[in-house]
Amino acid sequence: MGHGAGYGKVILFGEHFVVFGIPSIVSAIDKATTCTVERWDGEGWYLDDKRPETPGYKKEKLDQQRDSISRVLKAAGVDTARNPIKIKLEGDLVAASGIGASAASCVALARALSKEFNLDFSDEKINEIAFEGEKGYHGVPSGVDNTAATYGGLIWFVKGQPNIIDLLKVKEPVEIIIANTGLVTNTAAAVAGVKERKEKNPEKYDEIFNKARALANEAREALLVFDMENVGEMMDKNHELLQAIEVSCKELDLLVEIARDNGAYGAKMTGGGLGGNIVALTPGEKLQNKVAQAIESEGFEVLKTRIG
Ligand code: MEV
Repeated sequence: MGHGAGYGKVILFGEHFVVFGIPSIVSAIDKATTCTVERWDGEGWYLDDKRPETPGYKKEKLDQQRDSISRVLKAAGVDTARNPIKIKLEGDLVAASGIGASAASCVALARALSKEFNLDFSDEKINEIAFEGEKGYHGVPSGVDNTAATYGGLIWFVKGQPNIIDLLKVKEPVEIIIANTGLVTNTAAAVAGVKERKEKNPEKYDEIFNKARALANEAREALLVFDMENVGEMMDKNHELLQAIEVSCKELDLLVEIARDNGAYGAKMTGGGLGGNIVALTPGEKLQNKVAQAIESEGFEVLKTRIG
């Protein structure tokens, strides 16, 4: 029996822009998907998905998930016609949009396959395999989610040949909250929508994309000197840019507003958008609890965690 795990993630700066080579900043979170792979006497592969979920997520994503698993198996070189397996997904990461659920499960599966078939994959290889799996969900993934799911930590990620992956060290961990709209969304469609609009309005989009690049660079500096007020302000600006490329929605904007009204240093949607989750910067447990309670009292689920 082979086991493996992959972290969930939260993108602090640069989702969507990262697909086009703009830098991004992502943090793994202390929630993970785990996977167990064992041989069985059936045919091919069988999936037992026991992850907790936002209602509707697993059903909505089933086709993409099946495609993704086939891609991971292929990239790992595991032929389930000859070696039938049972795949079980579990863990404390809620399967929801925007927190890296797909990447976490791809990494967990790649690690479990490596163990069960004695493949001895390096982290780099696990990341490569998970990137192939992400294509099932994202269409054209940047690689940011699988990188966070593989390595953990706070990461500066730039897509390229090769990708730039720098681990960022901050003075101390900082509290954040992640709040769920409860809406399951299709990342591939959101990414494709941005591409289409960008092609139709190149000048407008170039201007927004340049701002996103400048913001990511400034945010990196602010994180490194631990200027959380500045980081928060830049998260707000990042949300505006995401609104401008039309990947936010009224539910995300509402959660962002509640977080800000209750003292968050900054808040923005996170991940593919059009639903899914927001992230708010809430240094200190007192502020974190206050913002979390305000959002929960409106009926939304909140995850309290830390970055750095
Ligand atoms: C999704 O978590 C992040 C996106 O930028 C897509 C990607 O980078 O693959 C929207």
